[in-house]
Amino acid sequence: MTSPAWRALVEHRCAVGNRHLRALFAEDPARFSRLSVKLDDVLVDFSKQRIDARTLKLLIDLAETADLRGWRARLFAGEQINVSEGRAVLHPALRYLKLDAFPSPQFDVMPEVREVRSQMRAFSEKLRAGLWRGFSGEAIRDVVNIGIGGSDLGPKMVVGALSSYQRRGLRMHFVSNLDSAHLAPLLDSLDPRSTLFVVASKTFSTQETMRNALTAREWLCAAAGRDAERALPLHFVAVSSALEKAAAFGLPPENVFRMWDWVGGRYSLWSAVGLPIALAIGMNGFERLLAGAEAMDRHFREAPLERNLPVLMALIGVWNTNFLGASTSAVLPYHESLRFLPSFLQQLEMESNGKTVGRDGLPLACQANPIVWGEIGSNGQHAFFQLLHQGGWLVPSDFIATAQSDYPLPGHQAPLMANFLAQSAALAFGKTEAEARAELQGAGIPDSQMAALLPHKVFAGNQPSTTIILPRMDPYNLGMLVALYEHKVFAQGVVWGINSFDQWGVELGKQLAGRLLPALQGEAPTTGLDPSTVNLIAWCREHGDF
Ligand code: F6P
Repeated sequence: MTSPAWRALVEHRCAVGNRHLRALFAEDPARFSRLSVKLDDVLVDFSKQRIDARTLKLLIDLAETADLRGWRARLFAGEQINVSEGRAVLHPALRYLKLDAFPSPQFDVMPEVREVRSQMRAFSEKLRAGLWRGFSGEAIRDVVNIGIGGSDLGPKMVVGALSSYQRRGLRMHFVSNLDSAHLAPLLDSLDPRSTLFVVASKTFSTQETMRNALTAREWLCAAAGRDAERALPLHFVAVSSALEKAAAFGLPPENVFRMWDWVGGRYSLWSAVGLPIALAIGMNGFERLLAGAEAMDRHFREAPLERNLPVLMALIGVWNTNFLGASTSAVLPYHESLRFLPSFLQQLEMESNGKTVGRDGLPLACQANPIVWGEIGSNGQHAFFQLLHQGGWLVPSDFIATAQSDYPLPGHQAPLMANFLAQSAALAFGKTEAEARAELQGAGIPDSQMAALLPHKVFAGNQPSTTIILPRMDPYNLGMLVALYEHKVFAQGVVWGINSFDQWGVELGKQLAGRLLPALQGEAPTTGLDPSTVNLIAWCREHGDF
């Protein structure tokens, strides 16, 4: 990275990079108000990041050098910025509720978007009212989404997050794994007469999804017996851009919810891939989710870069990764309903920006996306937080909570929030040797034991974190949160020079699996395969049943 903006950041890092958060707060008591941003009632506090006013200025220079404004304009103008696949990237169109034409009157996707939304509304209202009946005349009580990756993680995460909004009497399930241990026990627990399957696959050819869908279809048809043909369209709908493949599966056009090649899988929960969300919380709730995302789109397009939430999150992530040397980034929701957020963000971030080649086809000159991981914060505290506090690794994290609880059981929310706030403060400020000594003395530890205990009681601190507090978990706030991360990923991709919308890295394993399957089933020789795989196949054939 040879740009003056990058070099200025390298120099700045040498001058101030190791400054402790204690010092940064001591120098600037107004740091919180300077480094926190409110949008609607969502608060994002960056003050526990290892940055100062100059860091931010230099990072904004970096964004300008990378032409973030230009790329943002190209995204919203519907240009084919997904160059390696020759596609526009128009998921923001999916959340526009009022716009007449988007991205332009000449290339306007809104009529189709609105048409699919109406189809979703009609279907979800009918099903939720108990008027969509199965082959024996029973209303639907269980909905099983069969999909994987973006066709699973987004709707699963949102349905989980908004579980307190769900209608009683309609149970939602998500099946993704090829391992029959995912589908088989679920089928055992379901009644085919009152079960609806949503087969979600943009390509309608993903192996895991198609295998699960075929097995579910066989299960339904076996139960329906002579009514099988009539039963299929009453118990299966599809979400796909491959309309002819959905038809070949046996579904009439009215059972297929269309998506488009300009929606990437990991950005698709706003499309009909979000059908399980509409079924779970109703179409009005789904549109509130869209409205929250739309508000974040507007903010991303209009707010000045230095007060722009996705831009700040992106640039601080770049600072942590490329200048402070962090190789991971943790997401720690203190909210049980957000339990699938870490895996959703893993796909969003790592499938988008986990690359070493730029959009120009040249190797990147710097490391791009860090490894994203995470867990519900309360659980993490009693598992891996030890390493965050004293393990010596730099691990920037996002702490996420809601001020109000979804389920106001007395005595839970205040201690939850106390822990939420305590952990990021402890990570930031640590405990010095002098403080630890004074504490031990206060606890009556004799001097003879002091030397042995003291090193274990010191916390280095200086672990950076961002705190995000939503007023409550509702569709609107969740929409904002998800779109915040989407635009952060886009902005980081721009700074790193990446096309964030392709995913060629997932192809090699799929190709190889296609070659290995006949060998594993004894239908093809293993010649030409590497010796490790040859021997593993032999072992599997000896011990397994294929
Ligand atoms: O293999 C990766 C991937 O292509 C993801 O990008 C995508 O979200 C997932 O598979 C599922 O794809 P589809 O919706 O086409 O089944």
